[in-house]
Amino acid sequence: MKTLVVLTALAASFAALPATASVELATKSKCMTCHQVDKKALGPAFKEIAAKYKGDKTAEGMLADSILKGAKGKWGKIPMPAQKVAPADAQALAKWILTL
Ligand code: HEC
Repeated sequence: MKTLVVLTALAASFAALPATASVELATKSKCMTCHQVDKKALGPAFKEIAAKYKGDKTAEGMLADSILKGAKGKWGKIPMPAQKVAPADAQALAKWILTL
C-alpha cells in the first residue's frame, strides 16, 4: 500500500515536469545570476514582476519578448541584455514568473 502511494506521488510529479518551467529552468538558463524569486538582486524579484503584471492578459507574451530581446528602463537604470534561451523556454519562464 505504501509503495502504491509513493509510486502515485512520483508519477504525479513526473507528469508535472515537462509542461511547467521552474526555478530549475531559470537556474539552468542563468536567470538566477541577476534575479531572485522574492528579493531584488541586479534585476527585479520575479515576484515583483508577477505583481506588476497581475491581471494583464498580454503580459506572458510581452515578458517572453523581454527575455528574448532584453528590456530596459522598465524597472530602473540597469538594462537586461537579450537572453540566449529557446523561444519556448522564454515563454515557459514568462508563464512561470507570472504564477509567483
Ligand atoms: C545580466 C543580468 C540579467 C540576467 C542574466 C537576466 N535578467 Fe531579467 N532583468 C534584468 C534587469 C536589470 C531587468 C530590469 C530591466 C528594465 O528595467 O527594463 C530585468 C527584467 C526582467 C523581466 C521584466 C521585463 C519587463 O518587461 O518588465 C523579466 C520577465 C526577466 N527579467 C526575466 C528574466 C529571465 C527569465 C532570465 C533568464 C532567461 C533573465 N531575466 C536573465 C537582469 C537580468
